Amino acid sequence: MSPRDKSASRDVEQAAIIAAKPDVTPAQNTKKVFIKTYGCQMNVYDSERMADVLSPIGYAPVDAPDDADLVILNTCHIREKAAEKVYSELGRIRQHKEKNKPNMKVAVAGCVAQAEGAEIQRRAPVVDMVLGPQTYHKLPEMIAKVHRNTGDVLETEFDTIEKFDQLPKTRNVKGFSAFLTVQEGCDKFCTFCVVPYTRGAEVSRPVQQIVDEARDLARQGVREITLIGQNVNAYMAEGPDGSDWGLGQLIRHVALIGGIDRIRFTTSHPRDMDDDLIRVIGTEPKLMPYLHLPIQAGSNKILRAMNRDHTYAEYKALIAKIRAARPEIALSGDFIVGFPGETELDFEETMKCVEEIGYASSFSFKYSVRPGTPGASMLRQVDEDVKQDRLVRLQELLYAQQEAHNKSLIGKTLSVLVEGTGRKGGQLFGRSPYLTGTHFDGPEELVGQIVDVKIEEAGRNSLVGVLAV
Ligand code: 5AD
Ligand code: SF4
Repeated sequence: MSPRDKSASRDVEQAAIIAAKPDVTPAQNTKKVFIKTYGCQMNVYDSERMADVLSPIGYAPVDAPDDADLVILNTCHIREKAAEKVYSELGRIRQHKEKNKPNMKVAVAGCVAQAEGAEIQRRAPVVDMVLGPQTYHKLPEMIAKVHRNTGDVLETEFDTIEKFDQLPKTRNVKGFSAFLTVQEGCDKFCTFCVVPYTRGAEVSRPVQQIVDEARDLARQGVREITLIGQNVNAYMAEGPDGSDWGLGQLIRHVALIGGIDRIRFTTSHPRDMDDDLIRVIGTEPKLMPYLHLPIQAGSNKILRAMNRDHTYAEYKALIAKIRAARPEIALSGDFIVGFPGETELDFEETMKCVEEIGYASSFSFKYSVRPGTPGASMLRQVDEDVKQDRLVRLQELLYAQQEAHNKSLIGKTLSVLVEGTGRKGGQLFGRSPYLTGTHFDGPEELVGQIVDVKIEEAGRNSLVGVLAV
């Protein structure tokens, strides 16, 4: 299957390989936990925090399930395919447990756990613990219960504030770029989306808590922080002066932290893009010139049916304002094709939107019916082959734009945060301000530094350059 045939990237599973705490000796960490992460950046963050919660009770992270004492699947419910993966993985885990590791414990965390907790327990008796995204601070308690054999363990309450209050104050990070959750949940209720049900209402963390966490990351060598939230630009919480701060103010404050040289934020909703945030985009040099601002569809009729609460013209005007504030900004978006009622003419408006706006990167999906959402019971669901055809056409355009954006960087010198060594000897790998993977030759000592790279070649997904001296 060509990559164009697939709903892109966010579905790609990633095993969260989490570094062991440097201050915990192997003798103290006698048990092993394997955490597998599906879905979005917030799940990546949550997996890291689960490892932080488990470290004090003696669990060291491992990067394969083979000899793990505890396996945690941190799941995604956003599309049907993502949710179904969990059950096939549980089948493989059951076989492994029966054959090799009878005492292994299994937990299902994340959004599938929240949405289908009881069904998981019914369909997969191998599962010992089910925990929603707001309860993972309780893992030690839950594990103790499982070992006491006091029945099924299911935790799916919503108390985001309590979770963040209870999490360990220091994180174990590896690498130089880290996610930091500042906001969770969603009050927007787009008619296609499960997030308001799986992650709950919008909750923002207090500024001080975020700044403390960012300082801790900086102390551990992190140079780039991505502030994350399901609706990150709806961020609104108490600042140190007692007044309510939006995301713009928060970014200004995080930018003051020494050692943090790059800031990003994701995912934003067009409705919450306020003037202060646009001012910060235009003036804060630490904020990278890359903005993920999904529109989902170009037709006003479909935007209305999706309950997006804005028109295409409003989105276009917003983009013009952002580009006026920061002309070099690269845009990224999410798109759904085949939402109920989408005609060929509606779809062509999505194509026109992409042509007019121009995206440097994107994520595009076929509409997936999600139980319990308003979209699921809408009339005029679109046939699978029509969705597939539209996705292929849309991705052809989006990928051409991505490649053109990358090619426009040839000859330019970009700052690159060096994340590690490349596959070839002497090669380094890092990310451009636009998040593009960039390869160039250089000494290993540069890992963790931000260096200037002159771009010489560009493909659809990556750049190649030379160190600029
Ligand atoms: N079907 C397809 N794509 C979806 N998304 C969210 N819900 C669905 C769904 N039911 C996409 C949206 C969102 C991204 C995270 O996932 O484009 O912005
Ligand atoms: Fe998946 Fe959305 Fe949950 Fe993230 S918040 S794990 S994308 S369902």
